[in-house]
Amino acid sequence: MKFLELAKERYSCRSYKNKEVEDEKIIKILEAGRIAPSAANRQPWKFVVTKDKENLAEMHKTYHREWFNECPVVLTICGEPETAWTRKPDNKNHTDIDVSIAIDHMTLQATELGLATCWICNFFVDEVKKTLNLPKGVEPIALLSLGYPDDKLNIERHEKQRKNFNDIVVWEKF
Ligand SMILES: Cc1cc2nc3c(=O)[nH]c(=O)nc-3n(C[C@H](O)[C@H](O)[C@H](O)COP(=O)(O)O)c2cc1C
Repeated sequence: MKFLELAKERYSCRSYKNKEVEDEKIIKILEAGRIAPSAANRQPWKFVVTKDKENLAEMHKTYHREWFNECPVVLTICGEPETAWTRKPDNKNHTDIDVSIAIDHMTLQATELGLATCWICNFFVDEVKKTLNLPKGVEPIALLSLGYPDDKLNIERHEKQRKNFNDIVVWEKF
């Protein structure tokens, strides 16, 4: 697939088939995250995979949506702010930026493999930390639901649900 086609194929999937995701595919997705760029190459992230049934049931309690209970794999993408690069002049820590790039790589790799994902940030942070025994300094940034989609991509969303090109692009200067 050409890149723009792939990017347009990715969507937030909120309905999953009751079908296991092959480990080779999960590993490819994690690899796509591993090789992502990061500020000063600090790679301030950890990726936690949950696919065991009992652990999944616990993870499903950290975000209360019916559809989330169906997803067969949850990836918890964590950031390590103390490892991340901080820009000196304004003290801006780049954890969230770095982690977001890794997640984007993963969602696109999943799409290429015929899988679907949904970013989730509206989860119960303390519950995720407890459930996954996250060590101090490892912060959950996003959950990624992962599985075979059981719904259809709304191909109009880039036309109807996105801002217009001319409303967001500035050539040269404001
Ligand atoms: C940082 C971030 C956080 C998000 N959090 C949630 C969430 O908690 N729950 C949810 O259902 N979707 C969540 N989404 C998905 C967005 O709603 C979705 O990406 C947006 O509506 C565009 O739709 P699309 O992904 O299908 O193109 C999140 C997306 C991003 C990028």
